[in-house]
Amino acid sequence: MGDWNTATGPITRRRRATITAGRGVSLQPVNGRSTAASLSSLAADISIDDGHRKLDCSLETIRPKTKSEKKKRRNDFSDRMSCHKTQESLLSSTSGYNNYRGILNWCVVMLVLSNARLFLENLLGYGVLVDPIQVISLFLNDPYSWPAACLLIVSNVFIAAALYTERQLSKGSFSEAVGFLVHCINLANMLIFPAAVVLLVPSMTPVGSAFVLGIYTILFLKLYSYKDVNLWCRELSTVKAKKLARSLSCPSEQHFSGNHKVCYPGNLTIRDMYYFVFAPTLCYELNFPRSPKIRMSFLLRRLFEMLFLIQLLVGLTQQWMIPIIQSSMKPLEDMDLSRMTERLLRLAVPNHLLWLMFFYWFFHSSMNFSAELLRFGDRQFYKDWWNSESVTYFWQNWNIPVHKWCLRHFYKPLLRRGCNKMVSQSAVFFLSAFFHEYLVSVPLRMFRLWAFMGMMAQLPLAWFVGRFLRGNYGNAAVWMSLIIGQPIAVLMYVHDYYVLHYRAEAD
Ligand SMILES: CC(C)(COP(=O)(O)OP(=O)(O)OC[C@H]1O[C@@H](n2cnc3c(N)ncnc32)[C@H](O)[C@@H]1OP(=O)(O)O)[C@@H](O)C(=O)NCCC(=O)NCCS
Repeated sequence: MGDWNTATGPITRRRRATITAGRGVSLQPVNGRSTAASLSSLAADISIDDGHRKLDCSLETIRPKTKSEKKKRRNDFSDRMSCHKTQESLLSSTSGYNNYRGILNWCVVMLVLSNARLFLENLLGYGVLVDPIQVISLFLNDPYSWPAACLLIVSNVFIAAALYTERQLSKGSFSEAVGFLVHCINLANMLIFPAAVVLLVPSMTPVGSAFVLGIYTILFLKLYSYKDVNLWCRELSTVKAKKLARSLSCPSEQHFSGNHKVCYPGNLTIRDMYYFVFAPTLCYELNFPRSPKIRMSFLLRRLFEMLFLIQLLVGLTQQWMIPIIQSSMKPLEDMDLSRMTERLLRLAVPNHLLWLMFFYWFFHSSMNFSAELLRFGDRQFYKDWWNSESVTYFWQNWNIPVHKWCLRHFYKPLLRRGCNKMVSQSAVFFLSAFFHEYLVSVPLRMFRLWAFMGMMAQLPLAWFVGRFLRGNYGNAAVWMSLIIGQPIAVLMYVHDYYVLHYRAEAD
């Protein structure tokens, strides 16, 4: 419809367009003008016999009659003759064009092609290293000793202790001070006890230990939130008895997705506690938003992704990461900067790709799977961190459950107590750095503070990027810090692990 034969003239063109419109075919813009608009002047002249769908549009009826009509028709004609207008090229930033899907696909194709060579080199050099049986040995040293599994079972004791304490507090059997003390002991033990088991039981493997400590850390954050929210409920109910108690724990007596709203202390049940323990969130609420039903196709897709990606992650780690780490283990004789950089860059690409896969596996597939299974409504597990133009934006958006916990249970309480923003942010990053170090150093049985320092370094990095870099430069700086920062920490630990465990043997 956009091209038309000048020999037949614009009128013929109009008639054809009108007839097509009459058949209900969608109209495309002609030279920037909507065909529908140019047809509107004709619409009045064309009579349509509704009964027989006949069109009566002779040339006589559409011939211009008045002077103004003639002038309009001339303008129309020159409009149709022109094929240029003032406009920007698509790749100019001022064009406002932003659909780069094709470019993204190109990047993926280039990535696959450039890594195919590495893959072939790796395969020719090392052969097939993927070994599913070896994965079991990562968790079990001794087939008759299952300390990691035992630790997971024991974690129920801490959950029960938190629930028991809250029940006693709600009944008034414990005073607030006693309840707080019991919670503190319980929470402190949740960090000390598994760490002690990991350090003292020789059959604990580093991977098994990291997994168990990760679960205990999640439970720690959850039970801390549980303690806080129940305390807030009690505080409100004591300040303004019934009225305020409802406003927090039970805003109204309505049904929510077919469920009754729970009010404090009706939430202090084993069922409610275990729902929270398994729900993909670290922040407790008496009434979580719930989805109306389990969507089977969504659930199965997430399950498939989980199973597929975990195998891919394990396979790529065995085939790609471990050989590189092993070849980088031996410390360099001299401080050769170019060889150090070469080691770093060799590790950076696989490390980064595995981290991205892990992100999708954990934050999208696994969390959505458990949320769907539990009909947990809030699926905002991450936001668009990949567009981060500042380090601050990255930390606000990449791990939403942790960020929400930090804001609700640590950052805002500190601000309310009068700490300034800088101190409160530093305190949050300090806590985060502590947990990062805890999750690396204890399983490796090696205290080096590299993870701690990596996390604390985010503060000056955030300041630097925020102060000096904007837009795409800021985004590139965030990507660079992710791609280069992590392998630096990995190489530090690998180096120290080798020195600690193998140097003496080699000597
Ligand atoms: C430290 C951290 C919590 C700061 O978050 P932030 O969003 O930059 O903080 P902001 O100063 O912008 O304020 C956030 C909130 O506090 C509120 N706030 C700010 N100053 C306040 C004050 N004086 N009193 C009360 N509230 C205040 C803001 O209104 C805002 O509220 P909202 O969330 O309801 O909009 C965040 O960077 C973070 O989570 N860091 C750690 C992340 C981490 O370690 N993740 C681990 C992943 S493995």
